[in-house]
Amino acid sequence: MTPSSTAPAPVSPRSYFIRTFGCQMNEHDSERVAGVLETMGYRRAASAEDAGLVLFNTCAIRENADNKLYGQLTSLKPLKEAQPTKTVVVGGCLAQKDQARVAERAPWVDVVYGTHNIARLPALLAEADSSSLPVVEILEHTETFPSALPARREVAHHAWVSISIGCNNTCTFCIVPSLRGPEKSRRLGDIVGEVRALVDDGVREVTLLGQNVNSYGRDLARAGRAGPGRGNRTLFAELLHALGDVEGLHRVRFTSPHPKDFTSDVFAAMRDVSNVCEHLHLPLQSGSDRVLKRMQRAYSARRFLDLVAEARGTVPGVAISTDIIVGFPGETEQDFAATLAVTRAAAFDSAFTFEYSKRPGTAAVDLEGHLDPAVVGERYRRLAALTRELSAAANAREVGCSRELLIEGPSKTDGSRMSGRTRTNRLVHVPRTPEARPGALVEAVVTDAASHYLLGKVAHLVVAAPAARLAASPAPGEGGGRRPLPVVGASPR
Ligand code: 5AD
Ligand code: SF4
Repeated sequence: MTPSSTAPAPVSPRSYFIRTFGCQMNEHDSERVAGVLETMGYRRAASAEDAGLVLFNTCAIRENADNKLYGQLTSLKPLKEAQPTKTVVVGGCLAQKDQARVAERAPWVDVVYGTHNIARLPALLAEADSSSLPVVEILEHTETFPSALPARREVAHHAWVSISIGCNNTCTFCIVPSLRGPEKSRRLGDIVGEVRALVDDGVREVTLLGQNVNSYGRDLARAGRAGPGRGNRTLFAELLHALGDVEGLHRVRFTSPHPKDFTSDVFAAMRDVSNVCEHLHLPLQSGSDRVLKRMQRAYSARRFLDLVAEARGTVPGVAISTDIIVGFPGETEQDFAATLAVTRAAAFDSAFTFEYSKRPGTAAVDLEGHLDPAVVGERYRRLAALTRELSAAANAREVGCSRELLIEGPSKTDGSRMSGRTRTNRLVHVPRTPEARPGALVEAVVTDAASHYLLGKVAHLVVAAPAARLAASPAPGEGGGRRPLPVVGASPR
């Protein structure tokens, strides 16, 4: 071995590595952060060790997200000591929540920014260059809509498109409204314009993002009807119809709608607009009316099941996924039994299940009846077993069916396979074939089912992979898959 082959490669100060925690909104923000950094001349590094700048885009939704971040910052400390020129940046929801406390707990951090000021990153990095103390900037209001910033997409053929930011709801368990501010919708024309540009750039699938996508437009006055309460209640369905006219756009997804705001025109659009996928993520949270009231969710279990029935009745073949919280303060065994009953009645295709996590600053913290973690854990396991059973049954019904797949990239667990998703968002692994390239649409026959994935065989090509885009593949070591929408029975705990 030559000496040069053992020496560590020098770390370029203009290289970056981003670690993203949390939801799709954060995935989207990270793509924007990467876009801003690349515009500044930074290039992506394969790991934190190899990067001149390490950025944590943080989540605050559950306590374990806090713990994970501080754990990772602690394990980064020796690296920062060994490479003092490395810049460490913490941004996003947890930074917004903890503000200067991030720098107090991890004084080796160089920059802390919140959820509203991604566009300020270049100025904050410049300030950090000339300061020995951490630079902390947290704003209370969004300065620049993230979608106005450049993006560095994880996958060439998929893009996140934010249609609104913030949230006007008052769910008592949720910290998001206090971190992301009030809801602000983007103009429909701006969204459609962005999607057209993305399609010109090789994108085949977009996921529309908002904390509450189906209240989209309610803060935008209809022309000639200005004034409070005059917002446009049908604008989300109109947006889906408008995106149906974008040539070359094969798939449209959205996440997440709120059951209280769901209207029939959206189901009709899911049925009638050919590129809108037959997948609905509809968060249940609890199946008990008493708990739903204490959560301030503004719907009943009956109303939720009616929506599920309407979805299945209107949109042929629709798959429905959900979020459920176990162990909300005051939840009795009877309340939990109602959650199990609604889960079974809804026959969810997949579910994200969470143990209730106490978030200081939310109303639920002050409610009576916080539960023993052992009780919550036991209920969690029972619910997870049920959602796994339902997912396995739904997947088993797919065997023998022919499904269109959008190929994402090599399988993360078996390099001899490629992975793709059905329109209903099921993960399918197929053997590598010349047609099954990232970005291609293929027709595949499902041969086997497990609770979290399907196996299939490519029958024929529907639309070839965009040739020019193959060069723009994901960064080294990244497998090629994007973070999925909620998938079968798993909780990202
Ligand atoms: N504890 C547990 N789960 C929570 N979620 C939001 N806040 C909490 C909390 N405090 C879950 C909800 C939401 C999903 C994104 O995270 O189910 O839909
Ligand atoms: Fe996303 Fe909410 Fe977590 Fe923020 S707190 S990253 S909005 S899940």
